[in-house]
Amino acid sequence: MPDDPEILAEYYRIRAPAYDDVYARPERQADLLLLRRHVGSLLAGHDVLEIAAGTGYWTERIASTARSVHATDVNAPPLDIAKDRDYPRSNLSFGPADAFAVDEITGSFTACFAGFCWSHLKLADVDRFLHGVVTKLQPRGTVVLVDNRYVPGSSTPISRTDSAGNTYQRRTLTGGGGYEITKNFPSAGELIDAATGHGVEPRLIELEFFWLLTFST
Ligand SMILES: C[S@@+](CC[C@H](N)C(=O)[O-])C[C@H]1O[C@@H](n2cnc3c(N)ncnc32)[C@H](O)[C@@H]1O
Repeated sequence: MPDDPEILAEYYRIRAPAYDDVYARPERQADLLLLRRHVGSLLAGHDVLEIAAGTGYWTERIASTARSVHATDVNAPPLDIAKDRDYPRSNLSFGPADAFAVDEITGSFTACFAGFCWSHLKLADVDRFLHGVVTKLQPRGTVVLVDNRYVPGSSTPISRTDSAGNTYQRRTLTGGGGYEITKNFPSAGELIDAATGHGVEPRLIELEFFWLLTFST
């Protein structure tokens, strides 16, 4: 995703077994409940391409309402965890894919979902990412993106800002050492502008800890 893609991929590969701890944080449960409702409702009946699906927290939710889901990630370890979840409707497929090489994914999709992916993009790469997403969808497709808002005292502090305006966090993994990870927190205006550049009818929902951006292609 960023210009240090191997580092980001390695970080999430090592973090995979403990990744879902992030969804257990008590102060975020009310927002997560709302977010899960929105995501399930927005993607109901769609053939969904999920990018950077990770351990499948959202995959499971989307599969409960979508017609089908193809969940992808650049890393195998988180996707292996995603595959072990419960999908009673058997409407899932999985495959490896880089967020910047979605043209290599086969299938026909009416919607795309990416959770907690945007924040790891360099600012200069956001348009390239959105262009790839939009070109994978049938006309009048639906794009749904969710990510973190910066909440002082809850978010990992920003460690530095580079000359292009990208922000970074220092993260430590148990037994895995330290990483500096790109973590951008776009403003509402930046999100709407980006969506308007690639689609129509942008809608932004801002909760305390998360944002959800949806638009049509
Ligand atoms: C913050 S996690 C989000 C996982 C999941 N979407 C969620 O919301 O729970 C970011 C995910 O992006 C994946 N990833 C990192 N670089 C990637 C790339 N270049 N293309 C696709 N996925 C990537 C990681 O393996 C990781 O699973």
